[in-house]
Amino acid sequence: MTNPYEAAFEQSINDPDGFWGKAAEDCHWYKRWDKVLDDSNKPFYRWFTGGEINTCYNALDYHIEQGRGEQLALIYDSPVTDTITKYTYNQLRDEVAKFAGVLKSLGVEKGDRVLIYMPMIAEAAMAMLACARIGAVHSVVFGGFAAKELATRINDAKPKVIVTASCGIEVKKVIAYKPLLDAAIDMSASKPDKCVIFQRPMEKASMIDGRDVDWEAAMAAASPAECVPVAATDPLYILYTSGTTGQPKGVVRDNGGHVVALKWTMKNIYNVDAGDVYWAASDVGWVVGHSYIVYGPLFKGCTTILFEGKPVGTPDAGVFWRVIADHKVKSMFTAPTAFRAIKREDPNAELMKKYDLSNFKALFLAGERLDPNTLHWAENALKVPVVDHWWQTETGWAICANCLGLHEFTVKEGSPTKPAPGWNLQVVDTNNQQVAAGEIGALVVKLPLPPGALPTLWQNDDRYVESYLEEFPGYYKTADAGFIDADGYAFVMSRTDDIINVAGHRLSTGAMEEVLSDHPDVAECAVLGVEDSLKGQVPVGFIVLKAGVSKAQDEIVKEVIQMVRERIGPVAAFKTATVVKRLPKTRSGKILRGTIQKIADNQEYKVPATIDDPTILGEMEEALEGIGYAKARK
Ligand code: COA
Ligand code: AMP
Repeated sequence: MTNPYEAAFEQSINDPDGFWGKAAEDCHWYKRWDKVLDDSNKPFYRWFTGGEINTCYNALDYHIEQGRGEQLALIYDSPVTDTITKYTYNQLRDEVAKFAGVLKSLGVEKGDRVLIYMPMIAEAAMAMLACARIGAVHSVVFGGFAAKELATRINDAKPKVIVTASCGIEVKKVIAYKPLLDAAIDMSASKPDKCVIFQRPMEKASMIDGRDVDWEAAMAAASPAECVPVAATDPLYILYTSGTTGQPKGVVRDNGGHVVALKWTMKNIYNVDAGDVYWAASDVGWVVGHSYIVYGPLFKGCTTILFEGKPVGTPDAGVFWRVIADHKVKSMFTAPTAFRAIKREDPNAELMKKYDLSNFKALFLAGERLDPNTLHWAENALKVPVVDHWWQTETGWAICANCLGLHEFTVKEGSPTKPAPGWNLQVVDTNNQQVAAGEIGALVVKLPLPPGALPTLWQNDDRYVESYLEEFPGYYKTADAGFIDADGYAFVMSRTDDIINVAGHRLSTGAMEEVLSDHPDVAECAVLGVEDSLKGQVPVGFIVLKAGVSKAQDEIVKEVIQMVRERIGPVAAFKTATVVKRLPKTRSGKILRGTIQKIADNQEYKVPATIDDPTILGEMEEALEGIGYAKARK
């Protein structure tokens, strides 16, 4: 007998029209779609062509019509400012409609881009929803990125308006955002017409006459704007993510498929219903924040929590339990690194005992591999299912999960369980041939991708095809390697490109190498992700100096660390680098990154047959010992 998961999975693959067509009936449409899956322009599949929809309507107005106007839609919980503000669906819709009016008054029209560079405050979600309301395309940039990264995104998205706040708060530090924005605009060729600035009490941003508009003043003068129908296939947002070069990829999300898929996931994956309280402790600058702080829970009619704080230090490692208890959270989503941080400070979960967690039913973790220690610690402490699920900025929602709303499978350590309905996951070898169960290969998804996944990259169909579709024809390349076992459980082992995951944040070592190479004394370099007990991985740089450089090596190391902070941002967490005489390479000149990584992680390694000069490996071991790695071997 099949269980509901198996039945759903089977239908989603064999009858995608029937499966997603039914899910779409649960959403509000101005005009019904002509086709559920449109495959007339392969490999550019589209969902719900001919349909007209509004994302903001589905997130807010729809629920008011259904009688949920007085239910809480969003709770802003900010331990760093000691504030909790609650918005009902009526109140949030009114704020969003007013800000949509502000954007309109600044000349923003359907299809125009609006860049949002904001900390975790309710106004960030309002700005996103306001764009959706008038059919503008938002692009949220994470606050931990430096001005140069922001400038790259401004140049690519060419926003008409930028929305920011005077500052963000990082534990006890106030980070002024406005100077970063001003610097980014100076650097970029594309200039916004206007910037809207939300002034926070702890930091007043200086305003540029004629360009900068004060949020509060503009809201006071605004007339609310109504929802504008857009094509299901029109873009809702662009979210830039690390690629294999310093040029980030602009992942596009459409309107129709996104509403349908995310609303479906809330019950079927997360097992929450309208009226339940759902909390994703992430940041609106990441895909988790888009899908599960703002859109998914609101599409479903849940109460969502927007948390401005950290798992530890705001004020202590009990804050997650305090939020769960205070707001009666049913389901929570965060990254394993957050739980490692809590476990480190409060190993016996003593702080949990102070709180009533009786409403809490499930913990979902993603963003990086969930290590068995953290999995079991969370299971033992919380006594609820702990679900590891695997996804990417590109996919918008989980490729693999234990879909609690369909069927709860027994958990296997190290596995995000099985492919979610819609995802025809396969493992292939370098010749694009499927491998046997248990064999490691490239994790790929047979096309078409389900609704909600990226239809393309912003104004760059070629890069979309080149990055994801070319290497394994007929499949989407996840760039993760792994295997599927005989029971159908997937295991995600490692990236096949230069992406690393630092505290659940996706970063490109290639982009860091580009920065290091720009230092005048650096001849060549390599940056690798090395295992870290808190952040999962941290980047470590190896630099070879140009001949004749006389400057002190310590100085150069300090300078390159500063350069990464200034050009990529503090989020890169690039704090360690060392000077080496040479880098181990193959005879054809390729840097042996895998071998350096194994040395750093204290794993056994074989001397590669293709190595140019094996004596370099001894030098690497010494260099790594010098910076605190590779010690355990001795
Ligand atoms: N704006 C400005 N700076 C930011 C920032 C933001 N939004 N977010 C992070 N930074 C800065 C931090 O202040 C820190 O700077 P520092 O080098 O001056 O100390 C740096 O970027 C690195 O931040 P972070 O990776 O958050 O490390 P941390 O040591 O401050 O905290 C954790 C470690 C584990 C507590 C933290 O990473 C965490 O809460 N992670 C949760 C994971 C998560 O939200 N993942 C998103 C996907 S689900
Ligand atoms: P991002 O686009 O920031 O969401 O990062 C996506 C990448 O994070 C994936 O390609 C994986 O390498 C990694 N990742 C996300 N979730 C998991 C998970 N549950 N297990 C293992 N790796 C994961």
